[in-house]
Amino acid sequence: MLDSTSRRVKKLHIKTYGCQMNVYDSARMADVLAPLGYAPVEKAEGADLVILNTCHIREKASEKVFSELGRLKPLKERDGTMLAVAGCVAQAEGQEILARAPYVDVVLGPQAYHRLPELVARAARGAGAALDTDFPVDVKFDHLPAPAAGQGPSAFLTIQEGCDKFCTFCVVPYTRGAEFSRTADAIEHEARQLVDAGAREITLLGQNVNAWHGAQGEGLGALVRRLARIEGLARLRYTTSHPRDMDDDLIAAHADEAKLMPFLHLPVQSGADTILDAMNRGHTADRFRAIVARLRAARPDLALSSDFIVGFPGESDADFERTMDLVRETGFAQAFSFKYSPRPGTPAAMIERQVPEDVKDRRLAALQALLKEQQDAFNAATIGRTVPVLFEKPGRHPGQLAGKTPWLQAVHALAPAEFAGRVLDTKIVALAANSLSGVVVDSSVEAGERRSA
Ligand code: SAH
Ligand code: SF4
Ligand code: F3S
Repeated sequence: MLDSTSRRVKKLHIKTYGCQMNVYDSARMADVLAPLGYAPVEKAEGADLVILNTCHIREKASEKVFSELGRLKPLKERDGTMLAVAGCVAQAEGQEILARAPYVDVVLGPQAYHRLPELVARAARGAGAALDTDFPVDVKFDHLPAPAAGQGPSAFLTIQEGCDKFCTFCVVPYTRGAEFSRTADAIEHEARQLVDAGAREITLLGQNVNAWHGAQGEGLGALVRRLARIEGLARLRYTTSHPRDMDDDLIAAHADEAKLMPFLHLPVQSGADTILDAMNRGHTADRFRAIVARLRAARPDLALSSDFIVGFPGESDADFERTMDLVRETGFAQAFSFKYSPRPGTPAAMIERQVPEDVKDRRLAALQALLKEQQDAFNAATIGRTVPVLFEKPGRHPGQLAGKTPWLQAVHALAPAEFAGRVLDTKIVALAANSLSGVVVDSSVEAGERRSA
C-alpha cells in the first residue's frame, strides 16, 4: 500500500554518459521508476534520486564518474538526495565505487534495471548500499514496462546487447556480457508501442547490432524489412554494426528498403592490417573497403561514419599512414576518433610497446583534421539541395524547429511547433556552426524519403 508521502511526486535526475545504449537504458530506468512516483527533472539540485548512468570505455570516461560523485556528495549531506551509479562503471568497478564513495546508495549493472524499484526501496529503508551486478540479460527485457509517451519523434530500441568479439582494447564484453538477441516479436511489439507514442524514426541499438539473429536464424536484414511494414514509422536506422557481421541480406536491405536511412556507422578502428590483427578485429582493411563498395553499390547515396583508435600499442608511423590512406579513399561524412586508452583487464593493456602520449596527440590531431575536412565537404555539398527532414524538437531560437536529414545531419528551419514529427522537403540554404540552415519547401505533403538522384 502506498501512503500519502510515497504518493508525492519524487524528483529523478539521470545523467547519462557513453553510448546510445546508455541513453536508451536511462529512458527505461525512468520508465521503471515512474510507478513509484518518480518524475524526471533537469537538475541534480533538489532531486530525490540522482542516477549516474556511466561509461567505462576510456579512462577519462570512468574518472568523470568519481569526480561527479564528489560534486554530488554535498547534496546528499544537505538534502538527503539518494545517489545511484548504474551502467558500465558500476558493472566493472562496483566494489571500488562502494569503497571510494561509500555514500553511494545503489550500484547496479546494465542488466539489473528492472530491480531498481526494489534496490531504491531497500536503500531508502536505510538497509545499507545495495549492489546488483548480476548478469541475466534476458530477464531485464521481460520486466521493462511500455515506453512512456512523449519521448519525441526519434526513438532508440535495443534489439541486441553484449559482445563476443573481444577486441583486445575493449571493455564492453566484460561490462555488457555475452551477445544476446531479443526476439523479433518482442522487438516489433516495442517498435509499435514507440510509434503509438509518437516515434517516426527508430534507431535499432546493439553493441554489435548486425550480429542480431532471430529464432529461425534470420538476420538484421529480415528484421528491418519486418519493422519497415509498421505504418506511421518513417525511418529506420541501426547502430553500432561490425564489419564482420555485414551480410548480403542486410546489404540488400539498403538497396530495397526505402525506410532504411542511407547512413551507416561502421567502425573500422585502423587502416593497418597488422594493427587490425593485434586488435582482434577479424577483418583486414581491404575487406572493409570491399564491404563499403558493396554497400555503395546497393545504395549510392549512402554516407558513412566510423570509429578510429590512434596509438594502439605497436602502431608505427607507417601503420598510422595506412589509416590516413583508408580515410582519404573512403570518405566519411562523420566520424569519432580516440587516443588508445589502456583498460584494466584487457589484453592490449598488457602489451609492452605502448605508444607515447605525444605521438598519440600528434596522430589524433592529423586524423581529426582530415576527418573534419571530409565532414565539412559533405555538409557543404548539401547546400542548395532539397532533402527530406524529420523535424524533432524546438530549435535554439524562437520559431525554429530542429531536425535531421537522412544522413543524420542536424538542420534547423523556421517552422511551427506542429511540424514536429513530420518529414518535410526542406531546402538547405546555409552552413551554420553546428547544423545546416534550411527552408521548408512544402508542408502540405509528407516528403518521400527516396528520391531519384
Ligand atoms: N561495438 C562497437 C564499439 C563500441 S565502443 C564496435 O565494435 O565498433 C565505441 C568506440 O570506442 C570503439 O569503436 C572504439 O573506437 C572506441 N574504444 C573502445 N575501447 C577503446 C579504448 N580502450 N581506447 C580508445 N578507444 C576505445
Ligand atoms: Fe568492443 Fe570490439 Fe565488441 Fe565493439 S566488437 S564492443 S569494439 S569488443
Ligand atoms: Fe560505454 Fe558501456 Fe556504452 S562502456 S560505450 S556505456 S556499452
